[in-house]
Amino acid sequence: MRFFLSRGPAAGSCEFREANDLGATIIKGRATAAELRGYIAKRVAEFGDARGSVPGLAVVLVGDDPASAIYVRNKARKTKEVGMVSFERRFPLEIEQSRLLDHIRDLNDDDRVHGILVQLPLPPQIDANAVLNSIDPSKDVDGFHVSNAGLLATGQNGMVPCTPLGCQILLRRHLGDLAGAEAVVLGRSNIVGKPMANLLLKDNCTVTLAHSRTRDLKDVCARADILVSAVGRARLIGGDWIKPGATVIDVGINRVPAPEKGVGKSKIVGDVNFESALQVAGAITPVPGGVGPMTIACLLSNTLAAAHRITGLADLRSFA
Ligand code: GUN
Repeated sequence: MRFFLSRGPAAGSCEFREANDLGATIIKGRATAAELRGYIAKRVAEFGDARGSVPGLAVVLVGDDPASAIYVRNKARKTKEVGMVSFERRFPLEIEQSRLLDHIRDLNDDDRVHGILVQLPLPPQIDANAVLNSIDPSKDVDGFHVSNAGLLATGQNGMVPCTPLGCQILLRRHLGDLAGAEAVVLGRSNIVGKPMANLLLKDNCTVTLAHSRTRDLKDVCARADILVSAVGRARLIGGDWIKPGATVIDVGINRVPAPEKGVGKSKIVGDVNFESALQVAGAITPVPGGVGPMTIACLLSNTLAAAHRITGLADLRSFA
């Protein structure tokens, strides 16, 4: 049997899953993200009819890191595509913390803005926690404010970080009920690892949060029915780290040289050695086209949910 959980018909739709020659299912995050954005666009139009305005998302970028600039541009494009308003706030690398906090305060007070995201990383003169905790928790669409992190850690409803939320949607759609599954999360960041572990706990998995100091990492991973990797180490996880039939969610985005594409060319790969994992896993997300598109779709979903709560409209039914 390919899947450790036999729960009758698979939870996902046809275009969401694709079997490959080796039998493993490729979990197509891109298709699910497009579906989620379509759902959001409809709800945004309804919000406009009810409120006479549309939800607004402000993205704050400090400095000119090329990767961050690309992420911010993509976020702005997708925000507009679903009919929301995008506010971009760009600041020089050497901005003082107090000035940045002033700008966040302005966004907190701006009624057109329902979601605020400060792109990380921030330069060293800035205390990132101070900035993240200055965001109004009801507009904290990244879910990084300590009060939202605390709500998640204590099993209560708050804003959930976008990447783990996207992983949870993919897992639930693929496996249905996750209860009882042995889940291993690789990486202990506040952005992915810790909230992911909390979400899996909430879904009644038995969760191990592994990291760079974990002993016998390969053996720990090989126990997992659900393996989520967010360590940023290109192709660290080979097929021999994976339990046969496991569901593998690859959050890694690693740029590696690609001489086969030409001199000086590069490409993006995940934390998992995709080709060797395909021979063992029951299902796996590709990189690119897996978790990445879900992150932005979940950011839009959080912004819409924030707009509903802030303006007193009923909460949305969950997409997953
Ligand atoms: N930098 C890398 N990932 C993220 C994210 O999910 N949110 C923010 N704000 N910055 C990031």
